[in-house]
Amino acid sequence: MTEDLKIDGHVDAIAVDDEPTTGVSGSTEESDMLCAVAPVGLLAELTHRCPLQCPYCSNPVELESVKNELSTEEWCSVMRQAGKMGILQVHLSGGEPTARKDLEEIVKTAADAGLYTNLITAAVNVKRERLEKLQELGLDHVQVSVQDVNPAGADRIGAFKNALEKKLEFARWVTELGMPLTVNAPIHRHNIHNVPRYIDLAVDLGAQRIEIAHAQYYGWAFLNRAALIPTYEETIASIEYVEAARERLKGVLTIDMVVPDYYAKRPKPCMGGWGKGFMNITPAGKVLPCHAAESIPELQFDSVRDKKLLDIWMDSEAFNAFRGTEWMKEPCKSCAFKEVDYGGCRCQAMAITKDPRNTDPACSLSPYHTEMVKVAKSEAAKPATTFVYRNTRNAAQVGKAHDEPLVPAE
Ligand code: SF4
Ligand code: FES
Repeated sequence: MTEDLKIDGHVDAIAVDDEPTTGVSGSTEESDMLCAVAPVGLLAELTHRCPLQCPYCSNPVELESVKNELSTEEWCSVMRQAGKMGILQVHLSGGEPTARKDLEEIVKTAADAGLYTNLITAAVNVKRERLEKLQELGLDHVQVSVQDVNPAGADRIGAFKNALEKKLEFARWVTELGMPLTVNAPIHRHNIHNVPRYIDLAVDLGAQRIEIAHAQYYGWAFLNRAALIPTYEETIASIEYVEAARERLKGVLTIDMVVPDYYAKRPKPCMGGWGKGFMNITPAGKVLPCHAAESIPELQFDSVRDKKLLDIWMDSEAFNAFRGTEWMKEPCKSCAFKEVDYGGCRCQAMAITKDPRNTDPACSLSPYHTEMVKVAKSEAAKPATTFVYRNTRNAAQVGKAHDEPLVPAE
């Protein structure tokens, strides 16, 4: 197998429909038409409050304050609208979704609306009785993040004492209650050597699935890239291990993998294509085509406080900005892969090149690619920098300050 092939097989942490969405332009009242155009998945970021402070967090650097969060009724309305639109799955996330005291009501409303409900939790502050109640109200699936399989490493990465012990206890409750469990393993240079132990742990817990999710460098992870990025060699070794484990554990454990595309030759089809199968709602109700879309300054986002979810999906400026291929510049515009990867990730193009219409620099055809790989390899070869933890104090200090853009090749 060539290195290109090894590094190409991306999947997103949250699976989205990869089939073309038909009829995205023009509204319709026909319910069968709605099913044909609806996104598959909705990520509901119920709050940005979180007991952990992981330096690779996918939340935006500017965290939303609790006073701006949607009310219980506003979230319940979102769930009812999502069910009516034909959305299939809702991922209840954050921050830490269990920080919301009304999670029970939101879960029940989502389940009543016909949505498959997945709770994405850090699992350090949840009692067994609460989990049982959520299951009774219709919770279908639980995903637990594990910062490291080593207790000291887990405490340091999440900046939370005894986190691993609490998480493992919670994960066992999930399987004891007969609920499907996914272990989310965020991978970077501090725990990449533990990929085999992560997989053993998932088997031991009776998980259905594990996500070996190499950090994606947007938001907090972009700020912490020099503290997190593993070497190329470590990355390839971890991918080879996962490929062998997938064979060995067929029928026992599903292993999904998101690889760090700084070392890729071609980008991932981020979100399965912009505005194609996925919606993200922030704690304050802004509706985004992906969790990092607010990093693109030219975009305006509609809110569920002002508009219906369906109208936002169909007609909003942000969802239509990079739908399809019309917006593309060269080399994507005339590339045979443009309907396969949709030019990669708009947020990564923005973060690295300062223009979201540029080809994702993860693509070897991007003029920024060589320089990006060089920077990644050079950061990975040096001692790790200290973490900028994801917390409100750092959020206030860091603001919107990001690195200077790379200079493209001539
Ligand atoms: Fe994908 Fe654009 Fe690269 Fe072609 S040039 S492989 S469409 S990112
Ligand atoms: Fe926004 Fe990839 S994270 S398009």
